[in-house]
Amino acid sequence: MSAEATAPGKIILFGEHSVVYKGPAVLLAVDRRASVVASKRDDKKIYIDSEDLGFSGYFEDGNYAALTGKAWRGRNMAALDVAARKVLSQLGVESGVNLKVRSMIPIAVGLGSSAAVCVATTAAVGELFDGNLTREDISELSLEGEKVIHGNPSGADNSIATYGGIMRYERGVGLKRLQLKEPLPFIIGNTRKKRSTRNMVEGVKALKDRNPEVVDPIIYTMAGLSQVGLDALLRRDTQKLGDLMNLNHGLLASIGVSTIELDDLVYASRREGALGAKLTGAGGGGCMIALAEQEKLSRVEKGIRAARGHSMRVNLTDEGVKTRKIKDGDP
Ligand code: MEV
Repeated sequence: MSAEATAPGKIILFGEHSVVYKGPAVLLAVDRRASVVASKRDDKKIYIDSEDLGFSGYFEDGNYAALTGKAWRGRNMAALDVAARKVLSQLGVESGVNLKVRSMIPIAVGLGSSAAVCVATTAAVGELFDGNLTREDISELSLEGEKVIHGNPSGADNSIATYGGIMRYERGVGLKRLQLKEPLPFIIGNTRKKRSTRNMVEGVKALKDRNPEVVDPIIYTMAGLSQVGLDALLRRDTQKLGDLMNLNHGLLASIGVSTIELDDLVYASRREGALGAKLTGAGGGGCMIALAEQEKLSRVEKGIRAARGHSMRVNLTDEGVKTRKIKDGDP
């Protein structure tokens, strides 16, 4: 018998980086999911197999042993070892587990793939041992895993991967799920340049520590912008949303997290008629998002591709983490 959990990726509409320090982030879950199938082992190893990334291996006493593929790929999955062991210890279970990881979320480009995989791992291991974990448990235990990858995560990414939907998240305050009356057409542009969220967050901290008198007010402005942006989103004021996305991109660039490639995609989208465009996630590469009226979507997509980006249309999804038991013989 095994258990599967799936969890969605996300885009951040407003508040990346500022949410680490102050104010809310506005996050939207998207219909690209990660899946983890967990099964029991007779030993205490946490065995991970990722066909997409072409590796397998196991963690034992905090050390990674590669069986196939590149060892660094497996080591980068230490968060799953931590998350799985946290669940086992919370449930008082002495066992190892096999984790089969599959994902439709492009990795390391700001779309929340690591949080989705971590949340799916936590939920799958919980389900395997009939742990009756609540969503709150799943989100909290996953955050322990995320800390291994990101150092000082705000908690935004694991929250949206757990609950799905549209969310206001503020560190120390909590999350609020929101409803849109009608879907909004966002396009994602991917520079395909991978980067580490940890490095980007550390870079902003170093800049802030060296220049608090300048960077603190920028963070403060981003926090305020995020709240105003949330109000515009709920009112569906697309012109204001576009303005705020453009302003947010400028502020993010000022703290050093945009790149030439991201700027190229942002400006190409605006040139082709997007109402607004900004980087999304930690920056330093990865993805940007554009908001455009329905009739301009194709032009914006073409503009992104002409600027050497990969464009993706995604739908927002209400579905957060989902689990199921798989009996022997089930597909
Ligand atoms: C990364 O998806 C979002 C950041 O704000 C980091 C975090 O919230 O932990 C850059």
